Amino acid sequence: MVVIGVAAGTVATLVAVLIPWLPDSASKEMDRIQFVYWFATVISIVVFAIVAAALVYMVWKFRAAPDDDSDGPPIHGHTGLEVVWTAIPAALVTAIAIVSAIALSQNGKAGTNPVRVHVIGQQFAWKFEYPGSGVSSGRLVLPVGRSAELDLVAVDVIHSFWVPDFGQKQDAVPGLHTRLVITPTKLGTFPVICTELCGLGHATMRSEAEIVTQETFDAWLAKEKQGAGGGGGAAVFTAQGCGACHALAAAGTTAQVGPSLDTVAKDAQAAGEPVADFVRESIVDPEKRIAAGYAKGVMPKTFAGLPKDQLDALVQYVVSGKGS
Ligand code: CUA
Repeated sequence: MVVIGVAAGTVATLVAVLIPWLPDSASKEMDRIQFVYWFATVISIVVFAIVAAALVYMVWKFRAAPDDDSDGPPIHGHTGLEVVWTAIPAALVTAIAIVSAIALSQNGKAGTNPVRVHVIGQQFAWKFEYPGSGVSSGRLVLPVGRSAELDLVAVDVIHSFWVPDFGQKQDAVPGLHTRLVITPTKLGTFPVICTELCGLGHATMRSEAEIVTQETFDAWLAKEKQGAGGGGGAAVFTAQGCGACHALAAAGTTAQVGPSLDTVAKDAQAAGEPVADFVRESIVDPEKRIAAGYAKGVMPKTFAGLPKDQLDALVQYVVSGKGS
């Protein structure tokens, strides 16, 4: 009996501990979350093992004989046992609450010198702005070992920012600024995922978080800063996340949420408009002409607010299929 109990307990513990249920941690915040998770899980395993073992033992030990039809002895409870089975769980739950509260409060601290990033969610792309530098990127680039304080907002509907390896999610809500602290501990590239159903292109609303050294980060920021003034259609296309919905061979994008941009010449001809006018109109007033087979209200109307030089460069880029 004891042998079977120990064997069953060992198998259950191995399943719990050896299978990688959670992604590998790549941030200090994720480390704390995993600690809380395992703290609670180990307590649960121990409590479950004791209760299950006692139950199985008693079912076996106090079972009735086949021909025994008599009533069991009347029992009026046991005050000592009741105190024990109330006090121990209360102590364990309190311990879990304290550990969780500490982890939560630590995870909200960005320290004295965080990298500040504005995260803008819109159907169906993420945009990352680095305030003070004028840099806007479609990828989240952060230095390793330094806290980053994300300020999230959405321009249309609710989105939710999630990098599984960083362990936290935060909603991006129109008209509201939400906050998230990330302290990356590993170099590499991690997926950024939208985890709030936000429309037709929700599944394509993905980007990447690239964790680099502080030197690489500084060099990247300086390079992007140079590019930010000049614009360049390819840079605008990337920064505005056009490729999340549209295929454009020149940009190497293949998304099919919106019409392909490789056929704009033909589409403009069908619409009876010069191709540059057709492309510009489709960007600033997307509801005017809806391509056959596509729905109204999917393409954001926010691009009408692009600075004129960026809009010109973008139109030129889409028309020619070449970077300028
Ligand atoms: Cu944005 Cu789902």
